[in-house]
Amino acid sequence: MQTRLLPDTPHGREEAAAILRAGGLVAFGTETVYGLGADARNDHAVAAIYAAKGRPGINPLISHFTTADAAFAQVTPTPLARGLASRFWPGPLTLVLPRAPGCAISPIATAGLSTAAVRVPAGGNTRALLAACGFPVVAPSANPSGRVSPSDALHVLAGLDGRIDAVLDCGPCHVGVESTIVDLSGPAPVLLRPGGVTLEALEAACGMPVAMPRASSNDSRPLAPGQLSSHYAPGLAVRLDADTVGADEALLAFGPPLPGSPLVWNLSARGDLREAAARLFAGLRFLDMEGHRRGLVRIAVQPVPAHGLGRAIRDRLVRAASPRP
Ligand code: TXA
Ligand code: MG
Repeated sequence: MQTRLLPDTPHGREEAAAILRAGGLVAFGTETVYGLGADARNDHAVAAIYAAKGRPGINPLISHFTTADAAFAQVTPTPLARGLASRFWPGPLTLVLPRAPGCAISPIATAGLSTAAVRVPAGGNTRALLAACGFPVVAPSANPSGRVSPSDALHVLAGLDGRIDAVLDCGPCHVGVESTIVDLSGPAPVLLRPGGVTLEALEAACGMPVAMPRASSNDSRPLAPGQLSSHYAPGLAVRLDADTVGADEALLAFGPPLPGSPLVWNLSARGDLREAAARLFAGLRFLDMEGHRRGLVRIAVQPVPAHGLGRAIRDRLVRAASPRP
Protein backbone atom coordinates (compact mmCIF):
# COMPACT_ATOMS: atom_id res chain seq x y z
CA MET A 1 0.00 0.00 0.00
CA GLN A 2 1.21 3.49 -0.89
CA THR A 3 0.80 5.89 2.07
CA ARG A 4 -0.16 9.39 0.89
CA LEU A 5 0.94 12.58 2.68
CA LEU A 6 -2.02 15.00 2.56
CA PRO A 7 -1.78 18.75 3.29
CA ASP A 8 -3.90 20.14 6.14
CA THR A 9 -6.08 22.25 3.83
CA PRO A 10 -9.86 22.09 3.26
CA HIS A 11 -9.21 19.88 0.22
CA GLY A 12 -6.73 17.65 2.11
CA ARG A 13 -9.20 17.23 4.97
CA GLU A 14 -11.99 16.35 2.50
CA GLU A 15 -9.76 13.66 1.00
CA ALA A 16 -8.88 12.35 4.46
CA ALA A 17 -12.57 12.25 5.43
CA ALA A 18 -13.43 10.40 2.19
CA ILE A 19 -10.79 7.75 2.91
CA LEU A 20 -12.09 7.34 6.48
CA ARG A 21 -15.71 7.16 5.25
CA ALA A 22 -14.71 4.38 2.86
CA GLY A 23 -13.20 2.36 5.76
CA GLY A 24 -9.55 3.38 5.30
CA LEU A 25 -6.93 4.46 7.86
CA VAL A 26 -5.68 8.05 8.06
CA ALA A 27 -3.25 9.44 10.65
CA PHE A 28 -3.83 13.06 11.72
CA GLY A 29 -2.39 15.53 14.21
CA THR A 30 -4.11 16.48 17.46
CA GLU A 31 -2.87 18.81 20.19
CA THR A 32 -1.35 15.79 22.01
CA VAL A 33 0.17 13.34 19.50
CA TYR A 34 -0.74 12.04 16.02
CA GLY A 35 -3.61 9.56 16.06
CA LEU A 36 -4.28 6.73 13.60
CA GLY A 37 -7.92 7.31 12.66
CA ALA A 38 -10.70 4.99 11.50
CA ASP A 39 -14.51 5.18 11.40
CA ALA A 40 -15.45 4.10 14.94
CA ARG A 41 -18.65 2.44 13.67
CA ASN A 42 -16.92 0.22 11.11
CA ASP A 43 -15.75 -3.15 12.53
CA HIS A 44 -13.44 -3.83 9.58
CA ALA A 45 -11.79 -0.42 9.73
CA VAL A 46 -11.33 -0.69 13.50
CA ALA A 47 -9.84 -4.18 13.17
CA ALA A 48 -7.44 -2.79 10.53
CA ILE A 49 -6.06 -0.33 13.13
CA TYR A 50 -5.08 -3.20 15.44
CA ALA A 51 -3.43 -5.00 12.49
CA ALA A 52 -1.51 -1.92 11.26
CA LYS A 53 -0.17 -1.15 14.77
CA GLY A 54 0.35 -4.77 15.88
CA ARG A 55 -1.80 -3.79 18.89
CA PRO A 56 -3.15 -6.45 21.28
CA GLY A 57 -6.92 -6.82 20.91
CA ILE A 58 -7.44 -6.38 24.68
CA ASN A 59 -6.30 -2.73 24.47
CA PRO A 60 -9.33 -0.50 23.67
CA LEU A 61 -9.31 2.73 21.63
CA ILE A 62 -10.38 6.33 22.29
CA SER A 63 -13.26 7.75 20.17
CA HIS A 64 -12.92 11.38 19.05
CA PHE A 65 -15.81 13.84 18.59
CA THR A 66 -16.34 17.46 17.50
CA THR A 67 -18.52 18.33 20.51
CA ALA A 68 -19.36 17.08 24.00
CA ASP A 69 -22.97 16.55 22.89
CA ALA A 70 -21.84 14.19 20.13
CA ALA A 71 -19.65 12.28 22.64
CA PHE A 72 -22.42 12.07 25.23
CA ALA A 73 -24.77 10.52 22.65
CA GLN A 74 -22.50 7.43 22.70
CA VAL A 75 -21.73 7.17 26.44
CA THR A 76 -23.79 7.90 29.55
CA PRO A 77 -22.36 11.01 31.25
CA THR A 78 -22.46 11.66 34.98
CA PRO A 79 -22.78 15.25 36.29
CA LEU A 80 -19.03 15.17 36.99
CA ALA A 81 -18.39 14.11 33.36
CA ARG A 82 -20.41 17.09 32.11
CA GLY A 83 -18.50 19.42 34.41
CA LEU A 84 -15.08 18.13 33.30
CA ALA A 85 -16.14 18.31 29.63
CA SER A 86 -17.18 21.94 29.92
CA ARG A 87 -13.96 22.78 31.78
CA PHE A 88 -11.45 20.91 29.58
CA TRP A 89 -12.97 20.18 26.13
CA PRO A 90 -11.78 20.72 23.49
CA GLY A 91 -8.52 19.58 25.06
CA PRO A 92 -6.26 16.78 26.25
CA LEU A 93 -8.70 14.94 28.54
CA THR A 94 -10.29 11.51 27.88
CA LEU A 95 -13.30 10.29 29.86
CA VAL A 96 -14.15 6.61 30.37
CA LEU A 97 -17.92 6.17 30.79
CA PRO A 98 -20.51 3.41 30.33
CA ARG A 99 -21.50 2.79 26.70
CA ALA A 100 -24.93 4.30 26.09
CA PRO A 101 -27.79 2.11 24.91
CA GLY A 102 -27.53 1.97 21.11
CA CYS A 103 -23.88 3.13 21.21
CA ALA A 104 -22.57 3.15 17.61
CA ILE A 105 -18.91 2.53 18.55
CA SER A 106 -17.71 -0.86 17.33
CA PRO A 107 -17.31 -3.36 20.22
CA ILE A 108 -13.89 -4.15 18.74
CA ALA A 109 -12.84 -0.57 19.55
CA THR A 110 -13.89 -1.00 23.18
CA ALA A 111 -12.37 -4.51 23.41
CA GLY A 112 -15.71 -5.93 24.48
CA LEU A 113 -15.87 -3.71 27.61
CA SER A 114 -19.09 -2.10 28.86
CA THR A 115 -17.30 1.29 28.91
CA ALA A 116 -15.94 3.54 26.14
CA ALA A 117 -13.23 6.22 26.19
CA VAL A 118 -14.24 9.54 24.57
CA ARG A 119 -12.60 12.89 23.94
CA VAL A 120 -13.01 16.17 22.05
CA PRO A 121 -9.52 17.10 20.82
CA ALA A 122 -8.27 20.67 20.42
CA GLY A 123 -5.46 21.67 18.14
CA GLY A 124 -5.41 23.33 14.76
CA ASN A 125 -7.85 21.76 12.38
CA THR A 126 -8.46 18.45 14.13
CA ARG A 127 -12.10 19.30 14.73
CA ALA A 128 -12.47 20.52 11.13
CA LEU A 129 -11.42 17.03 10.02
CA LEU A 130 -13.86 15.40 12.46
CA ALA A 131 -16.62 17.73 11.24
CA ALA A 132 -15.89 16.77 7.62
CA CYS A 133 -16.30 13.12 8.68
CA GLY A 134 -19.54 13.56 10.61
CA PHE A 135 -19.01 10.29 12.53
CA PRO A 136 -16.90 9.36 15.59
CA VAL A 137 -13.28 8.56 14.75
CA VAL A 138 -11.26 6.11 16.86
CA ALA A 139 -7.60 7.03 17.05
CA PRO A 140 -4.81 5.39 19.04
CA SER A 141 -1.41 7.04 18.86
CA ALA A 142 -0.08 6.50 15.31
CA ASN A 143 2.94 4.33 16.15
CA PRO A 144 3.63 0.60 16.02
CA SER A 145 2.39 -0.85 19.33
CA GLY A 146 4.89 -0.43 22.19
CA ARG A 147 7.07 2.14 20.40
CA VAL A 148 7.55 5.90 20.90
CA SER A 149 4.45 8.03 20.09
CA PRO A 150 4.58 10.40 17.07
CA SER A 151 4.48 14.17 17.49
CA ASP A 152 4.86 15.05 13.79
CA ALA A 153 3.89 13.57 10.42
CA LEU A 154 7.39 12.26 9.63
CA HIS A 155 7.36 10.27 12.91
CA VAL A 156 4.16 8.58 11.69
CA LEU A 157 5.73 7.67 8.34
CA ALA A 158 8.85 6.34 10.09
CA GLY A 159 6.71 3.69 11.81
CA LEU A 160 3.69 3.08 9.58
CA ASP A 161 4.63 4.00 5.96
CA GLY A 162 3.08 1.44 3.61
CA ARG A 163 0.67 0.15 6.28
CA ILE A 164 -1.93 2.98 6.29
CA ASP A 165 -3.71 4.93 3.55
CA ALA A 166 -2.62 8.48 4.39
CA VAL A 167 -1.17 10.97 6.86
CA LEU A 168 -2.71 14.43 7.16
CA ASP A 169 0.29 16.69 7.82
CA CYS A 170 -0.93 18.95 10.64
CA GLY A 171 2.56 20.07 11.71
CA PRO A 172 4.06 19.42 15.16
CA CYS A 173 1.77 18.69 18.14
CA HIS A 174 1.94 21.49 20.72
CA VAL A 175 1.16 19.54 23.93
CA GLY A 176 3.35 16.57 23.00
CA VAL A 177 2.12 13.96 25.52
CA GLU A 178 -1.13 12.03 25.24
CA SER A 179 -4.42 12.97 26.89
CA THR A 180 -5.06 12.45 30.59
CA ILE A 181 -7.46 9.50 30.99
CA VAL A 182 -9.93 9.52 33.88
CA ASP A 183 -12.34 6.65 34.54
CA LEU A 184 -15.72 7.99 35.68
CA SER A 185 -17.57 4.67 35.42
CA GLY A 186 -17.14 3.80 39.12
CA PRO A 187 -18.15 5.48 42.39
CA ALA A 188 -15.08 7.80 42.42
CA PRO A 189 -12.91 9.15 39.57
CA VAL A 190 -9.73 7.15 38.85
CA LEU A 191 -6.70 8.45 36.93
CA LEU A 192 -5.81 5.77 34.35
CA ARG A 193 -3.05 7.77 32.61
CA PRO A 194 -1.42 11.10 33.50
CA GLY A 195 -1.31 13.37 30.44
CA GLY A 196 -1.82 16.84 29.03
CA VAL A 197 -4.30 17.94 31.74
CA THR A 198 -2.39 18.00 35.03
CA LEU A 199 -3.60 16.05 38.07
CA GLU A 200 -3.63 19.34 39.99
CA ALA A 201 -6.05 20.92 37.46
CA LEU A 202 -8.17 17.76 37.33
CA GLU A 203 -8.52 17.53 41.12
CA ALA A 204 -9.35 21.23 41.34
CA ALA A 205 -12.13 20.76 38.76
CA CYS A 206 -13.42 17.56 40.43
CA GLY A 207 -13.34 19.15 43.89
CA MET A 208 -11.95 15.87 45.25
CA PRO A 209 -8.82 13.74 45.10
CA VAL A 210 -8.44 11.59 41.98
CA ALA A 211 -6.89 8.23 42.84
CA MET A 212 -4.40 6.34 40.68
CA PRO A 213 -5.18 2.63 40.22
CA ARG A 214 -3.01 0.17 42.17
CA ALA A 215 0.00 -0.80 40.05
CA SER A 216 -0.62 -4.04 38.21
CA SER A 217 1.75 -6.79 39.32
CA ASN A 218 0.96 -8.86 36.26
CA ASP A 219 1.11 -7.59 32.65
CA SER A 220 -1.09 -10.42 31.38
CA ARG A 221 -3.98 -9.07 33.47
CA PRO A 222 -3.53 -5.27 33.60
CA LEU A 223 -5.99 -3.46 35.90
CA ALA A 224 -6.40 -0.69 33.37
CA PRO A 225 -6.24 -2.13 29.86
CA GLY A 226 -3.33 -0.76 27.89
CA GLN A 227 -1.29 0.21 30.90
CA LEU A 228 1.37 -2.37 30.06
CA SER A 229 4.64 -1.51 31.75
CA SER A 230 6.92 -1.60 28.69
CA HIS A 231 5.76 1.04 26.23
CA TYR A 232 7.18 4.09 24.45
CA ALA A 233 10.28 1.94 23.99
CA PRO A 234 13.15 3.29 21.87
CA GLY A 235 15.72 0.80 20.52
CA LEU A 236 18.45 1.94 22.96
CA ALA A 237 18.12 1.15 26.69
CA VAL A 238 17.01 4.03 28.93
CA ARG A 239 18.52 4.95 32.36
CA LEU A 240 16.43 7.27 34.56
CA ASP A 241 17.31 10.00 37.08
CA ALA A 242 20.95 10.17 35.97
CA ASP A 243 23.27 12.42 38.01
CA THR A 244 26.31 11.59 35.87
CA VAL A 245 26.59 10.56 32.22
CA GLY A 246 29.14 8.38 30.41
CA ALA A 247 30.90 9.05 27.10
CA ASP A 248 29.04 6.03 25.68
CA GLU A 249 25.61 7.45 26.59
CA ALA A 250 23.26 9.90 24.87
CA LEU A 251 21.77 12.47 27.27
CA LEU A 252 18.14 13.55 27.55
CA ALA A 253 18.68 16.71 29.60
CA PHE A 254 16.30 18.87 31.62
CA GLY A 255 17.68 22.19 32.84
CA PRO A 256 21.46 22.70 32.77
CA PRO A 257 22.87 19.60 30.98
CA LEU A 258 25.26 17.23 32.78
CA PRO A 259 28.77 17.30 31.28
CA GLY A 260 30.29 14.26 29.53
CA SER A 261 27.86 13.06 26.85
CA PRO A 262 28.72 13.35 23.14
CA LEU A 263 25.02 13.62 22.16
CA VAL A 264 22.51 15.82 24.00
CA TRP A 265 18.82 16.69 23.50
CA ASN A 266 17.63 19.24 26.03
CA LEU A 267 13.93 18.90 26.88
CA SER A 268 14.01 22.42 28.28
CA ALA A 269 17.17 24.34 29.14
CA ARG A 270 15.09 26.71 31.30
CA GLY A 271 13.39 23.82 33.12
CA ASP A 272 9.91 24.49 31.69
CA LEU A 273 7.64 21.42 31.84
CA ARG A 274 5.37 22.51 28.95
CA GLU A 275 8.33 22.92 26.65
CA ALA A 276 9.72 19.57 27.89
CA ALA A 277 6.45 17.71 27.15
CA ALA A 278 6.29 19.17 23.63
CA ARG A 279 9.90 18.07 22.96
CA LEU A 280 9.80 14.63 24.65
CA PHE A 281 8.95 12.19 21.86
CA ALA A 282 11.00 14.00 19.20
CA GLY A 283 13.96 13.90 21.62
CA LEU A 284 13.64 10.18 22.37
CA ARG A 285 13.45 9.48 18.63
CA PHE A 286 16.44 11.70 17.82
CA LEU A 287 18.70 10.28 20.56
CA ASP A 288 17.69 6.73 19.67
CA MET A 289 18.44 7.10 15.95
CA GLU A 290 21.55 9.24 16.22
CA GLY A 291 22.85 7.38 19.31
CA HIS A 292 22.48 4.06 17.50
CA ARG A 293 24.30 5.45 14.45
CA ARG A 294 27.19 6.60 16.66
CA GLY A 295 27.42 3.30 18.56
CA LEU A 296 26.24 4.68 21.92
CA VAL A 297 24.82 2.10 24.36
CA ARG A 298 21.97 3.86 26.12
CA ILE A 299 20.03 7.06 26.81
CA ALA A 300 20.62 8.63 30.24
CA VAL A 301 17.78 10.86 31.45
CA GLN A 302 18.17 13.75 33.91
CA PRO A 303 15.55 13.99 36.67
CA VAL A 304 12.23 15.62 35.75
CA PRO A 305 10.09 16.88 38.66
CA ALA A 306 7.01 14.76 39.50
CA HIS A 307 4.40 17.53 39.51
CA GLY A 308 2.22 19.15 36.85
CA LEU A 309 3.09 17.96 33.34
CA GLY A 310 6.19 16.32 34.85
CA ARG A 311 3.93 13.44 35.99
CA ALA A 312 3.03 12.57 32.38
CA ILE A 313 6.63 13.00 31.22
CA ARG A 314 7.94 10.74 34.01
CA ASP A 315 5.23 8.13 33.31
CA ARG A 316 6.34 7.88 29.64
CA LEU A 317 10.03 7.74 30.63
CA VAL A 318 9.47 5.02 33.25
CA ARG A 319 7.69 2.90 30.63
CA ALA A 320 10.44 3.62 28.07
CA ALA A 321 12.97 2.35 30.63
CA SER A 322 11.13 -0.76 31.81
CA PRO A 323 12.26 -4.24 30.73
CA ARG A 324 11.06 -5.19 27.25
CA PRO A 325 8.80 -8.27 26.89
O1 TXA B 1 -3.95 11.97 23.34
C1 TXA B 1 -4.44 10.87 23.11
O2 TXA B 1 -5.21 10.31 23.90
C2 TXA B 1 -4.10 10.20 21.77
C3 TXA B 1 -4.69 11.06 20.65
C4 TXA B 1 -4.47 10.45 19.29
O3 TXA B 1 -6.04 11.28 20.90
N1 TXA B 1 -4.56 8.85 21.72
C5 TXA B 1 -3.99 7.85 22.47
O4 TXA B 1 -4.50 6.58 22.23
O5 TXA B 1 -3.09 8.04 23.24
P1 TXA B 1 -3.80 5.24 22.72
O6 TXA B 1 -4.58 4.16 22.04
O7 TXA B 1 -2.34 5.28 22.44
O8 TXA B 1 -4.09 5.18 24.24
C6 TXA B 1 -5.43 4.99 24.67
C7 TXA B 1 -5.48 4.48 26.07
C8 TXA B 1 -5.01 3.04 26.21
O9 TXA B 1 -4.13 2.94 27.30
C9 TXA B 1 -6.31 2.29 26.47
O10 TXA B 1 -6.10 1.14 27.23
C10 TXA B 1 -7.13 3.33 27.20
O11 TXA B 1 -6.83 4.51 26.51
N2 TXA B 1 -8.57 3.04 27.09
C11 TXA B 1 -9.36 3.13 26.00
N3 TXA B 1 -10.61 2.75 26.26
C12 TXA B 1 -10.66 2.40 27.56
C13 TXA B 1 -11.68 1.92 28.45
N4 TXA B 1 -12.91 1.69 28.00
N5 TXA B 1 -11.35 1.67 29.72
C14 TXA B 1 -10.08 1.91 30.17
N6 TXA B 1 -9.06 2.35 29.38
C15 TXA B 1 -9.35 2.60 28.11
MG1 MG C 1 -0.29 4.94 22.46
